[in-house]
Amino acid sequence: MSVMYIRGGTPLEGELTVHGAKNSVLPILAACLLAGGPVTLHNCPRLTDVDAALAILRHLGCGIRQEGRSVTVDPTEAAGSAVSEEQMRSMRSSIIFLGPLLARTGEAHLTYPGGCELGPRPIDLHLAAIRALGCQVTEDRGIHCTGKPKGGEVQLSLPSVGATENAMLCAVGGTGTTTIVNAAREPEIYDLQCFLNGLGARVRGAGGSTVTVEGGLLLHGGEYTVMGDRIVAATLLSACAAAGGRIRLRGVDWRHLSTVLSVLHQAGCRVQSRSEYVELFRDRAKPLRAVPTVRTAPYPGFPTDAQAPVMAALAASEGCTLFVETMFDSRYRHVAELRRMGADITTEGRVALVRGMERLHGANVEAPDLRGGGALAAAALGAEGVTVLSGLHHIDRGYEGLETMLSSLGGAVSRRDD
Ligand code: EPZ
Repeated sequence: MSVMYIRGGTPLEGELTVHGAKNSVLPILAACLLAGGPVTLHNCPRLTDVDAALAILRHLGCGIRQEGRSVTVDPTEAAGSAVSEEQMRSMRSSIIFLGPLLARTGEAHLTYPGGCELGPRPIDLHLAAIRALGCQVTEDRGIHCTGKPKGGEVQLSLPSVGATENAMLCAVGGTGTTTIVNAAREPEIYDLQCFLNGLGARVRGAGGSTVTVEGGLLLHGGEYTVMGDRIVAATLLSACAAAGGRIRLRGVDWRHLSTVLSVLHQAGCRVQSRSEYVELFRDRAKPLRAVPTVRTAPYPGFPTDAQAPVMAALAASEGCTLFVETMFDSRYRHVAELRRMGADITTEGRVALVRGMERLHGANVEAPDLRGGGALAAAALGAEGVTVLSGLHHIDRGYEGLETMLSSLGGAVSRRDD
């Protein structure tokens, strides 16, 4: 079992370029099924979720070549239309293959992605979108879709990120024009639009609530550089807020982080946002201030994925912060682990009340999920003493070498892979 040893108390100092975004590269990899030739992706992060997506593409018949953070996907020989249960379970977001697979082959056979640490992960909006595009969907011991998407209007009752992306990918491979209403507005969806248009698609409006797709276009191959990961940046900034010091992050657009930066500024950190970097300074001699309320919401609201890391920083602050998690049922599993470090946090359903402590202390803790793991590492850097963090398989899904990133910024962090 791999563990991380983290000794708190050392302020962070330094500069780092944030790696490519997991939540952008995963739909982009699925979209490679729609390309008319090889696609090379740059700034592709080395993550276990990316490995799972590449395994699915190989299973479907794509050629894959990896060279560092560049990956080439050649879909020319791809002919499969089914993703196995084991593969669907290997990565929660494997449902994103539904739309492109159906558009490419006229059929798609997948199993339910299954719940995950965040609670049930329904896919009703994905299936409704596929039906709205004129395809047949039956659910009989799995999901079976047939038909060529014809285009149409997709009305999303919730601005679901995954359902928006599935609808876009299905529509690009369809014949008519599609309008997606109440689309999610996350920056990763805009990145997907830029990727698709670089292959010859005509997608408009991503980043806003209405996305239009002109179908019937044959896509070619190409190259693309994936955007930086705003949630990894939020995690590193939270770690600096917890430990003190000054860090500068490159490779992310600060505007994608504005709600997180606002909370950390309210807590007493000094934030500098420039087009080419974002910098945070926290004077360790001054305690962080609690922030009245942090409420998660779809973009451009406060990102649910940053809730745990920011809570970890505010667990050692003056005053009380009320968190309201509106996106997922079970996104406070890091609270029990923070309590083991001395945090005073009470949860009731989707609400968590954090009574700030002067300082947390090191403990043996286990990452309950991906962002909870990032949060525990951030908390440990500000805590007194040594923390032993296990459950690193969760962390490796979305952080490429978190221990390397933190130690490169001066954190006393090491990893032992037993
Ligand atoms: C994406 O998940 C991200 N994952 C998540 O990041 C992120 O937390 C989430 O968007 C919200 O921003 C990827 O992009 C790979 P949703 P997704 O569909 O698409 C409900 C991380 O840590 N819903 O926007 O699954 C759903 O239950 C991960 O990197 C339905 O009811 O999120 C949730 O309450 C965690 N029916 C809400 O919508 C559906 O058919 C938002 O989910 C689909 C979703």
